[in-house]
Amino acid sequence: MSELNQIALKIVSNGKGILAADESTPSMDKKFNAIGVEPNPENRLKYREILFTSNGMKDYIGGVILFEETLNQISKSGLPIPQLIENQGTIIGIKVDTGLKKNPESPDENITSGFDGLEDRLKKSYEIGARFTKWRALIKISDKFPTEVAIKSNAIDLAKYASIVQNFNMVPIVEPEVLMEGDHDINQCYEITARLLSECFNQLKLQSVDLSGILLKPNMVVPGIDCQNQSSTNEIAKMTFNCLKDNVPSEVPGIAFLSGGQSEIESTRNLNEINKINDTNFIFTYSYGRALQQSALNYWGKNPDDINNIQKIFNHRAKMNSLSTSGKWAEDIDKINI
Ligand code: G3H
Repeated sequence: MSELNQIALKIVSNGKGILAADESTPSMDKKFNAIGVEPNPENRLKYREILFTSNGMKDYIGGVILFEETLNQISKSGLPIPQLIENQGTIIGIKVDTGLKKNPESPDENITSGFDGLEDRLKKSYEIGARFTKWRALIKISDKFPTEVAIKSNAIDLAKYASIVQNFNMVPIVEPEVLMEGDHDINQCYEITARLLSECFNQLKLQSVDLSGILLKPNMVVPGIDCQNQSSTNEIAKMTFNCLKDNVPSEVPGIAFLSGGQSEIESTRNLNEINKINDTNFIFTYSYGRALQQSALNYWGKNPDDINNIQKIFNHRAKMNSLSTSGKWAEDIDKINI
């Protein structure tokens, strides 16, 4: 078993998943403005430190994805944030893409940027303790989109990124996300997700990426937010499972979904259902941002000093998602008294 494979498995095995705490500064600004908290580095640190020191980290969070700012911050106990996370037994990851830009090959669509200075950033992140990375490619669905060229160029860049990261001895999270925005139905989401995944794995193989040393972070196959015809949990689980089973090579050690705008309960319920029907060796787990944090963040906004209850809310969400990795979650146990 290679070192990268071992790291990947450690992150997603034993009912653990990933906490995506890598929201960019503008995205944190929006979240903080919505709950009336001043967006600044100190408040971002205060909030994130509460999550990172929660008991739930040890049991349910195998990896945390950080934004570069957090990787360099010092906790109030004096420990650098990476050390504080390592003390929980959690592996540190770092978002290394730098967001979206216009796709030169299809100007009404986007492509992810981040190759400028990537090697330097990887070297520094590794020295500080990061052992995995994330790069997110976004594909939107509408009447005209996505174009073939958008799918292909994003897949090429994801593979190029993954290959560079593995050269630095880190596990790349490959994140091809089909957005939920739009009125497309679940069949369209299935078709585009399948095409995107298949192109990504073509490119990963062409660029000689070791598939046993990556983690895949895909979207679930769901209808668009504005679709008139919403789908049952069962349908979402079956279509998501089939799409991944048919398009992901078996060497990939873990599939950690993004929540992508699903509510906390929806993303837990869907993952639970996927794991109930999983008859393969794939590990299906979570790499949630919003769906692990939303309730804790809202509560923190109103009660910034009530650390116990903020952590209780976060621990509960993490535990519910952990149960869903083995199909043991149920709606009636998903209750919490604060
Ligand atoms: O790249 C996306 C984030 O890491 C996951 O966030 O679960 O809120 O979609 P989300």
